[in-house]
Parts: sequence; structure tokens; C-alpha cells
Amino acid sequence: MTDSLRDKTIVIVGAGPGFGRTLALRAAAEGATVVVAARTASRLDGIVEDVRAAGGTAIAAAVDATDPESVRALRETVGEHTDAVHGLVYSAFAVPSMKPLAETDHDQISRGMDLSVLGALRATQEFTPLLEAGSSNGAASNGTQPASPSSVVMMASAVIHHSRERYAGYKIAKTALVALGHSLATELGPRGIRVNTVAPGYIYGDTLKAYFEHLAGKYGGGVDDVYAHTASRMDLRRLPTEDEIVDPVLFLLSDAASAITGQTLTVDCGEFHT
Ligand SMILES: NC(=O)c1ccc[n+]([C@@H]2O[C@H](COP(=O)([O-])OP(=O)(O)OC[C@H]3O[C@@H](n4cnc5c(N)ncnc54)[C@H](OP(=O)(O)O)[C@@H]3O)[C@@H](O)[C@H]2O)c1
Repeated sequence: MTDSLRDKTIVIVGAGPGFGRTLALRAAAEGATVVVAARTASRLDGIVEDVRAAGGTAIAAAVDATDPESVRALRETVGEHTDAVHGLVYSAFAVPSMKPLAETDHDQISRGMDLSVLGALRATQEFTPLLEAGSSNGAASNGTQPASPSSVVMMASAVIHHSRERYAGYKIAKTALVALGHSLATELGPRGIRVNTVAPGYIYGDTLKAYFEHLAGKYGGGVDDVYAHTASRMDLRRLPTEDEIVDPVLFLLSDAASAITGQTLTVDCGEFHT
């Protein structure tokens, strides 16, 4: 623990049981007050309990990122606790169609875009005033003050680097999310808000293990075989853990990344050289 997020409020939209929970615990351990938001209130309460048990500070707030009124209500709830937000992580995700485009209903693509792209835009737009209030940008004071711009981190995927069969719906949404991040970085930079995306190859936690079990059942072999087959494409011959995806997100949220905006950081144990 380095206190890299001390006195900062970080909002995680789409806080799931793996990456989102680990990020909440680690951000709180770095000194942040963490707001965990998603649709499943019982899970959010569990994350808050875990953060508090570890000595951190967290608040749970239910949100449906596809519903503008719900995102507004989240911002109002956060606004009751603080007048400034320093970091926003957008991680909301639902399993896409995984069918070839020829068999993919356009509504499925629209739903993926609505959650992954417009949800990220809704959340960023809604939180911009609070993020601006949380920013202190050194450039605006001719560098005489240390820079501490606010930070938005959007969770993309290394699917942006390949065009494998069945990943089209996911790729379309995550690639558009990266484009959104670029444009938001341009628009919000002058207001002292940085915007970056992180593109994990895989996040090896319970969700992915369950998927590998499914693949093992379907194609034969065991989970270890599926893992080894998948990892054989990586330079490091293994898959990133949840903590290894959280690490760069914490970095991008912190002032150690105060001059980094408009970037996409691929974290994939070396599958793609970008
Ligand atoms: N897991 C991987 O291997 C992997 C690889 C590359 C990229 N990524 C990306 O990394 C991020 C985290 O991945 P993950 O596997 O931890 O995802 P995850 O477990 O599916 O967590 C994402 C959470 O988003 C929430 N969500 C879904 N729809 C929502 C909505 N309408 N409003 C608000 N929240 C919503 C869900 O919680 P509720 O159902 O409670 O709302 C879900 O728990 C995702 O953006 C994913 O695309 C993951």
C-alpha cells in the first residue's frame, strides 16, 4: 500500500464480483473512498462489507448504466456524500452474442453498444462536473502547482486487436469504446480530466475459469488444457490475473499518470504487440 489514492473518491460503474470487487478493495487500500455501482444490490453490499472489514471506506449504489435516469440518480447519490470525484472506472459488461455477424440480430449489437459505449458516455457526462471539481491541473496554473487531474478509465478488451470469428459484436462495441475514450480525452482534457482505456486480454478469475470449464466440457480435456492452449499464444505463456489488470487501472487513476491521457493500455501477457 502506497496511499496513491489518498483523499480521492473513485466511482466504479459495473462493479462485478471479480475485477470490480478486487479493484474496490485495492483502491480502498490505497486510501480512496470507493463507490461501487451495478444492478445487483446484494453483491454491492457484500463488496462494501469486505472493504470496510479491511479498514477501507466504501459506498454501494445500485445503477443500470443503460438507463439515463438511473445514472443521474447514481450521480445524485454520490453528490450527497461528496462535492468532488477524482476517478471514474467504467467496467459494465454483459456477455455479447458470440455468433457470426451473419447470424447476429442487430438488436444484440445495439444492446452491446448501449451498455459498453453509450453507458460509458452517460456515466462520464453525468460525472463530468464532479470530476472537474476533483481536478487540480498543474498546466492550468503554468505548472506551479503539482498536477492532479481527475481520471476516467474505461475497460475495453484486447478483442480490439483481432477479428476472430464470433467476437464481432464484442469487437465492434469495445473498439467504439476506445474511440469514445480518444474523443473524450480531447474534450475533457482542457477541464482537467484525463480519459484512458485499458484493454485486458483475459482476466483469469472465477468468471473465466467457469468459461474454461464450459469449453472443457464442450471440447474435451480439462480446464488446465484449455488454459495451456489459450496461454500458448502469450509471450509469457500465462494469462493476467485480476490483480494484474487492477494494477494498471490503479496507476491510471493515480497522479503517477498525471500526464497520460487519450491512451489505450493493452494488458495481455504479450499476446498482441501494439
Ligand atoms: N473477464 C475477462 O477475461 C475480460 C477480458 C477482457 C476484457 N474484459 C473487460 O473487463 C471488464 C471487467 O470484466 P469482468 O469479467 O469482471 O466483467 P463482469 O464480471 O461481467 O462484471 C461486469 C459487471 O457489469 C455489471 N453490469 C452489467 N450490465 C450492467 C448495467 N446495465 N448497468 C450496470 N452494471 C451492469 C454486471 O453486474 P450487475 O449484473 O450486477 O449489473 C457485471 O457484474 C469488462 O468491461 C470486460 O468487458 C474482461
